[in-house]
Amino acid sequence: MDQGHGNDCLRCHAPLAEQKALMALERGWPNAPAAPPPGWVPADLHLRGLACAACHVRRHERFGPPARPGAPAIEGRKPHGGFVAEAAFSDSRFCSTCHQFAPDGRRVNGKLLENTYEEWRASRHAREGRACQACHMPERRHLWRGIHDPEMVKRALGREVTAARLDAGRARVTVRLANRGAGHHLPTYVVPKIMASVYLRGPGTHMLVGQHVVGRTLNVALDREIADTRLAPDATHEFAFDIAVGPGRWRAVLRTEVAPGEHYERMFADMRRRNPGLDEATRAQLDEALGKAVAARFFLDELEVAIPEAPADAPARVAN
Ligand code: HEC
Ligand code: HEC
Ligand code: HEC
Ligand code: HEC
Repeated sequence: MDQGHGNDCLRCHAPLAEQKALMALERGWPNAPAAPPPGWVPADLHLRGLACAACHVRRHERFGPPARPGAPAIEGRKPHGGFVAEAAFSDSRFCSTCHQFAPDGRRVNGKLLENTYEEWRASRHAREGRACQACHMPERRHLWRGIHDPEMVKRALGREVTAARLDAGRARVTVRLANRGAGHHLPTYVVPKIMASVYLRGPGTHMLVGQHVVGRTLNVALDREIADTRLAPDATHEFAFDIAVGPGRWRAVLRTEVAPGEHYERMFADMRRRNPGLDEATRAQLDEALGKAVAARFFLDELEVAIPEAPADAPARVAN
């Protein structure tokens, strides 16, 4: 990338002026400062991503949320001269500078590539006063757990499987997925995908009988939308299919795989294919990034239900 493109990315990924200066020096970009940054700037600051100072320091002054009720008062000389309290830290708009594109930002199929704040604003969570911080920074802990965290996804995604016997040779399996805990679309970005697959399990059989992908899928160039099956807050999606299954003890199993970096898996592989002449070091970085994206995949627990043996039997149901 040239400096202009690079700085577009650094705005959110490594936003400090010192980080941009270090990057420009390393890359030999024009407008790099003549001298290296002052001694208090670590030499690898540009590689550290979103550092504390990006959110907490302006002009060498510290900013933060007002002290919590009951927090012990600090007597005497305060660390780094104390801090300036700003209520903005507890507001969802604090996050929107990086997690929401402006109305004139990049759109595909008429929809912004990043719309998390607006999705939240239209949701019950905004009406009930539950800001981004309530879910992503509980008790002000800097966790930022999201789609990479199995517990977060499990809590957010409601799943229910129902199996009914139609006749001696057919059964109907119905899957219901719900966004019951994410304060925005599940998932909000175009990057992650959640794959819900139904298997038929029986004597000597383990067969895929149906699949549904939750997510917004774009082509690698990010200019064409292939599908948008994300779940808005509190929305549900139901899909059902009839399967040929004779008498006997059969089970329907829902497997749920989460691919937090699905778009990048395709994008990195495509970059490698299209650029056979990449230098060794760049190719190694690309392979490392691809390896990390694939390794981030995980499964949620399986849901399994016995298919009733007679049409007169009540449908069987299981939910998480
Ligand atoms: C408006 C802010 C913003 C800009 C501008 C931006 N990004 Fe991002 N980027 C994000 C956010 C937020 C995430 C995390 C999304 C997630 O994890 O779902 C992210 C995630 C990523 C990731 C995945 C990181 C990982 O560890 O999985 C890559 C790679 C990436 N961005 C590259 C870029 C590049 C290259 C550019 C410039 C062309 C860029 N970004 C511009 C906000 C931004
Ligand atoms: C992406 C922005 C961001 C980054 C990066 C960040 N913080 Fe914070 N920090 C916040 C927000 C937002 C709050 C307030 C959360 C709230 O009000 O619920 C906060 C709160 C705090 C508090 C107050 C905690 C309390 O209990 O009152 C301290 C101290 C703090 N951060 C230190 C740090 C340090 C040290 C780092 C780097 C290791 C850091 N922060 C990185 C956004 C950030
Ligand atoms: C200065 C830009 C910036 C601000 C402000 C910011 N973020 Fe982020 N956030 C990012 C980037 C960049 C990433 C991706 C980091 C990566 O994967 O390398 C990210 C990642 C995340 C993730 C992890 C997503 C995942 O992939 O699982 C969550 C959750 C998140 N941010 C929530 C918040 C919340 C809540 C706030 C407000 C308190 C906030 N962010 C403020 C830039 C920002
Ligand atoms: C009611 C709780 C809740 C609130 C409020 C909430 N989130 Fe989330 N968020 C989640 C859960 C659960 C996940 C994991 C599932 C998912 O990816 O949607 C998540 C995932 C994410 C991710 C991971 C990437 C992705 O594609 O899903 C980002 C980034 C994020 N949230 C940012 C935000 C921002 C910014 C806000 C405020 C505008 C916010 N969240 C408000 C619960 C919440």
